[in-house]
Amino acid sequence: MLEHSLLLIKPNAVQHKHIGHIISLLERGGYHISALKLFRFDEKLASRFYAEHVGKSFFPGLVQFMTSADTVAIIVEKENVIHDLRELIGAVEPEKRKPGTIRFLFGEGVTENGVHASDSDVSANREIGVIFGS
Ligand code: PPS
Repeated sequence: MLEHSLLLIKPNAVQHKHIGHIISLLERGGYHISALKLFRFDEKLASRFYAEHVGKSFFPGLVQFMTSADTVAIIVEKENVIHDLRELIGAVEPEKRKPGTIRFLFGEGVTENGVHASDSDVSANREIGVIFGS
């Protein structure tokens, strides 16, 4: 079934000029890019995007990081994109990242992990609305 998902290229990967490399990995992996946007999160938008993490100990650091520089948001389409893109990006925990995954290549920690990808169809629709909605 054709699905869509949201990928964010986070501030650390943008600042280290990995945008092109990450997009190449998507294209070579058969992902179709249907929308793309470069922008900078402010605190309000980051709090909406990460609403499920409000109140957690890492939340202030997460918002500080996400507002520190530009982010690239990409809507990607492919069969089974939610599952396959999560495999391609790799785990949140640095010690669990498999070689070749995007977070293995460009992640610098748990917070500065290079990229985000939606974890479900419901999350994808919500996240795309937050970033690409009016
Ligand atoms: S998952 O699988 O990505 O949904 O993992 P989850 O644990 O739900 O998401 C955690 C997101 O919060 C960011 N973050 C941290 N998580 C855990 N511990 C610490 N200290 C922490 N700091 C930041 C983490 O990078 C995940 O962001 P995304 O954008 O989902 O990758």
